[in-house]
Amino acid sequence: MADRPGRARGRFITFEGGEGAGKSTQIRLLADALAASGIEVCLTREPGGSPGAEQIRELLVTGETGRWDALTELLLLYAARRDHVQRLIEPALARGCWVLCDRFADSTMAYQGYGHGLELEKIRDLHRIVLGALKPDLTLVLDLAPEIGLARTRAGGEAERRGGEDRFERMELAFHERMREGFHAIAKAEPERVALVNAARDTDAVTAEVASLVRARLGAAV
Ligand SMILES: Nc1ncnc2c1ncn2[C@@H]1O[C@H](COP(=O)(O)OP(=O)(O)OP(=O)(O)O)[C@@H](O)[C@H]1O
Ligand SMILES: [Mg+2]
Repeated sequence: MADRPGRARGRFITFEGGEGAGKSTQIRLLADALAASGIEVCLTREPGGSPGAEQIRELLVTGETGRWDALTELLLLYAARRDHVQRLIEPALARGCWVLCDRFADSTMAYQGYGHGLELEKIRDLHRIVLGALKPDLTLVLDLAPEIGLARTRAGGEAERRGGEDRFERMELAFHERMREGFHAIAKAEPERVALVNAARDTDAVTAEVASLVRARLGAAV
């Protein structure tokens, strides 16, 4: 879609990290801060974010942990991602909105690549086929030991609120550890796009660092 004349394209920011690291908490706080500074914000999430992608999400987040083999899961994720990008993310960026997405392609690399052992190059190839060169302007990886994240999720009663949407959460701890290492590797490989944020601190400290990164890297007045 062509950008609207006179209005700059929006920025695309993604939040990544393990379960319970604080992604949903921090993304809402950043959305509020950006909106208060006069920026139009579109808050979304993956898997899902558009009606079709939300239907695919249901297939991904419910049922047995072994419901899909790793490649089938990857294809479902990218089918959902394409719909989300085409119908929501790209049009919003073209209108000048700043799109904030709770999980995106790096989660796929971490889960299906580092977690399940799918070839990383295969995932990159599929990304190129489905989305071309699209990548976030800034990715914030909330970094936290998985056992702390899982304990936060349980303490916060998230599982009950999610009504059975816990297929990924129930994976073994070693899987979550591999995922965390994956996020570290991604951050190391693409430091201009990806920043690691220590999420073991209290919410206010994490929020302050997120705001400072968004100021420094994207020039927003938050
Ligand atoms: N810095 C923090 N310190 C302590 N608890 C926190 C912190 N940030 C968030 N929490 C709490 O931890 C729980 C998980 O937070 P949140 O839902 O934001 O994480 P998430 O990364 O979105 O998790 P998920 O991957 O499961 O969606 C919530 O109950 C939240 O209130
Ligand atoms: Mg969340």
